[in-house]
Amino acid sequence: MRGFLTLTVRAVSRVPRRPLSGGRPPAPLGARVLTNPEDIFQHNMWDHVQWTEEETEKARLRAEENSKEKIPVEEQSKYDGEAHKYWDRFYELHQRKFFRNRTWLFTEFPELLPPDTAGLCRPELEQDSRSESGNREKQQPCGSCTLTSHMDTFPGQHAAFRILEVGCGAGNSVFPIISTIRGSKAFLYCCDFSSQAVELIQEHPDYDPAVCHAFVRDICDTRSPFPFPPESLDIILVVFVLSAIHPARRAQDVVTSLAGFLKQGGIMLFRDYGRYDLAQLRFKKGQCLSENFYTRQDGTCVYFFTKDEVHRLFSDAGLEELQNLEDRRLQVNRGKKVVMHRVWVQSKYRKPSLISD
Ligand SMILES: C[S@@+](CC[C@H](N)C(=O)[O-])C[C@H]1O[C@@H](n2cnc3c(N)ncnc32)[C@H](O)[C@@H]1O
Repeated sequence: MRGFLTLTVRAVSRVPRRPLSGGRPPAPLGARVLTNPEDIFQHNMWDHVQWTEEETEKARLRAEENSKEKIPVEEQSKYDGEAHKYWDRFYELHQRKFFRNRTWLFTEFPELLPPDTAGLCRPELEQDSRSESGNREKQQPCGSCTLTSHMDTFPGQHAAFRILEVGCGAGNSVFPIISTIRGSKAFLYCCDFSSQAVELIQEHPDYDPAVCHAFVRDICDTRSPFPFPPESLDIILVVFVLSAIHPARRAQDVVTSLAGFLKQGGIMLFRDYGRYDLAQLRFKKGQCLSENFYTRQDGTCVYFFTKDEVHRLFSDAGLEELQNLEDRRLQVNRGKKVVMHRVWVQSKYRKPSLISD
């Protein structure tokens, strides 16, 4: 295993330019680039690592090998049907200690930062008003106010900027977001199908119902209501959660139904495990459910995406690409002198605005 993970490192002569995605500048995914292979043990992580064909082939063979033996179909349904129980046990055991706070959140996803909300939701703008010329003009009502026609009252109803995080776990993104939006006109919803995880959030000293509403919800159950109306969200954050869901049976329905809650122009922000990430190659035989989908010892599941699959998921939900990239990095264990390839997919997809004549 160690031999397999000890990879050749090619020097890169300059910082590679990432391709522009959707006409927008790429996200700042870090700029620590290894230009001299001798420096490899100087840092714990190197960015923008390119794989040789040989490395890709080695990884492909390794994944082929560890997925040869599939878990028998009759045993597989429990991983799907009882998924929330496995995650409940996970949070009972690890509490808040397993995942680290997502410190990269605002660097990679500056869209999460509430815009200057001044004037976005002023009740006086929701009625007819006079323009400077004295003519009566019909102002466009803001999202919050039209929403009351769908639902009488709901948490975050008066917010001018609404974020939802699905599969929020113990709050590693939730609390950084709460501390950032406090004092703004933004509101955060967060849900997880593990009631243990949601309790950890609600019991956290920084949890504040004035800014955040945490609730239990299985996002695969697309018919259950959410505590906000359709087309009411500016941002939906989907980090390391779609990988936990059956890729073929469920993921598309989940993304399509979530897209219905975005406002026009609202954005889905996605980050998750990429194909041939170290975590995939480390699986042993007998843990594979289907191609690139595995179950861990604790019964939780994980899928490894390509960016083309991610593109299909979001564009089939009617969203347009702003960014879709593979974030390939080299993780270094300086003590053991081992280097490992990490792969994540990071994407941003927007709900198009309807063009009216
Ligand atoms: C790998 S953890 C990531 C947690 C969090 N997003 C983070 O980045 O720290 C995956 C989370 O997704 C949740 N999850 C998995 N399937 C879900 C589903 N169908 N509905 C809601 N939450 C789900 C799990 O309970 C778990 O908290």
